[in-house]
Amino acid sequence: MCGIVGYVGFQRALPILMQGLKRLEYRGYDSAGLVLVEKDGLVCEKCVGKIACLEEQILGKEYMATEGIAHTRWATHGEPSVINAHPHMDSKDKIALVHNGIIENYRALKAFLENRGHRFKTQTDTEVLVQLIEEYYEGDLTEAVRIALSQVEGTYGIVVIASHEPGKLVAARQGSPLVVGNGNGENFVASDMSAVLEYTKRAVYLEEGEIATVTPENFEITNVDRSLLRTPQIEEISWTLDQIEKGGYEHFMQKEIHEQPATLRNAIRGRLNFEEGIPRLNGLNLQYDQLRKINRVIITACGTSWHSALIGEYVIEELARIPVEVEYASEFRYRSPIIEDGTLLFVISQSGETADTLAALREARKKGATVLGICNVVGSSIARETDGGVYIHAGPEIGVASTKAFTSQVMVLYEIAILLARMRRMSLGEGAALLNYLEKIPNQVEEILQTEDRIKRIAEQYFRNNNFLYLGRGVNYPAALEGALKLKEISYIHAEGYPAAEMKHGPIALIDENMPVVVIALKDFVYDKVLSNIAEVEARNGKIIALASEGDTEIVDKVSEVIYIPHTHPLFTPILASIPLQLLAYHIAVLRGCHIDQPRNLAKSVTVE
Ligand code: G6P
Repeated sequence: MCGIVGYVGFQRALPILMQGLKRLEYRGYDSAGLVLVEKDGLVCEKCVGKIACLEEQILGKEYMATEGIAHTRWATHGEPSVINAHPHMDSKDKIALVHNGIIENYRALKAFLENRGHRFKTQTDTEVLVQLIEEYYEGDLTEAVRIALSQVEGTYGIVVIASHEPGKLVAARQGSPLVVGNGNGENFVASDMSAVLEYTKRAVYLEEGEIATVTPENFEITNVDRSLLRTPQIEEISWTLDQIEKGGYEHFMQKEIHEQPATLRNAIRGRLNFEEGIPRLNGLNLQYDQLRKINRVIITACGTSWHSALIGEYVIEELARIPVEVEYASEFRYRSPIIEDGTLLFVISQSGETADTLAALREARKKGATVLGICNVVGSSIARETDGGVYIHAGPEIGVASTKAFTSQVMVLYEIAILLARMRRMSLGEGAALLNYLEKIPNQVEEILQTEDRIKRIAEQYFRNNNFLYLGRGVNYPAALEGALKLKEISYIHAEGYPAAEMKHGPIALIDENMPVVVIALKDFVYDKVLSNIAEVEARNGKIIALASEGDTEIVDKVSEVIYIPHTHPLFTPILASIPLQLLAYHIAVLRGCHIDQPRNLAKSVTVE
């Protein structure tokens, strides 16, 4: 998510840090900042916006420090602002820290520190960490970091400096990657090697739970629990800068598809309360009795976010028994929507800036609706203007075709549906069982991603076709729509998604041997009906690519290709079904030589009508 770079050596740190930040800007860019260890103490420069703003701010400043840390932020807690930008400092401005990740127990730590007399200036989870280090500091920065981290739950990649220990960076990793770049008489720490590749190709990747103490001449790696002193394995990097930014993948879209086990974990981290069988979604800002009074839900969104809304409709109705309507934001804003007491409106937007969705939200608020947001970008316009909401925490999505944001939106909608259901008819046991299914999904996505080679081979057989049909039923009908949209967006192949049974009312006329039909045919209560739809396609020589439930051998003879999906609750299958559909679209588009990350005519964020 955020980008981190640190330097300790003999050169001026400022230009090195700035160059590093520019290289890391693709990871997030809502604000940026740096701290340098100058002769008379730490100096800090921060600003909101892209790295160019920080560059303007420091223009002409002759900082001579040879040590410093810098950060480009992708907000998770606290909106993008100068005060919330990293680095964060302790109360005496002697210790500074940059952080990538989420501190789950920051509320408890903050309460503890406030009792000890600490005062907080920001809304971030990160400030807790630097004040915790201050609390335990007794002359040894590495030791203070170690003690502080032993109390932290969550994920972090951090780099810390202290004015009273110049010439030393302390870095630690748990869940957020960090690498030490080893130079001659100088060392670097970064969230990825692209930040420092101009200066060194010698990399030492930190493992989970490790702390590195880095000086100009040396670096020492120990474990958070002090159990291990590792002899660092230096790797010589042969990748290009471009390859590194994409994590070794060909395109950002492919990287983002592969990030989904991690992004889905972020969407549930700290939120699954098994004891009560209720997801913790504090950002909704609604009390349980207010949630109980809701008798109608409207969800509005555009594009891929609209598809996740449709999945939300099935799941909220089924689990919570509340009527749900889904509207395109562009339609909703110009109608005179009926908003009554008890109507709750959700707006879903990855960017939080889509013009139609924002206008729909404003229209609904004018009519007195309570509006909640499901957004990725913290502090975005939609996130700011809603009454509350849930962040999906998927990190920056760069590929124009949305992948990881979609599955995280769906995951959050599952959490919302279970919460609403638990306020009504669902028992603790049922709630806990559903949370259990949710917890398993990231690992199941990982399993599916391992079948990428097989999906690529399927793509090789079908990429020359110019029309595709996608069929699904029930909660997987929106997954079929999303599968078709992915293919359309990046390969420019005409693709339509349809509820499987509707096929016979029109699209069946198009089916012949040149029209591959992708069918989501999982073992649920409409499985037999989908098999009948498959037979209808087969009878017309259509080629069928089926997504089937693991262990379903019956389907093999009836279709041309089978991709298996692991078992989960029937309502939760769309996340799993979407992964092979994303990969299929991706590989078909690659084989057709398309511009994967910037497809023609499309924009990542549509801020015009
Ligand atoms: C654009 C993007 C789509 C996205 C849609 C809605 O069309 O290309 O990928 O689904 O906008 O964007 P939002 O940021 O509101 O989710």
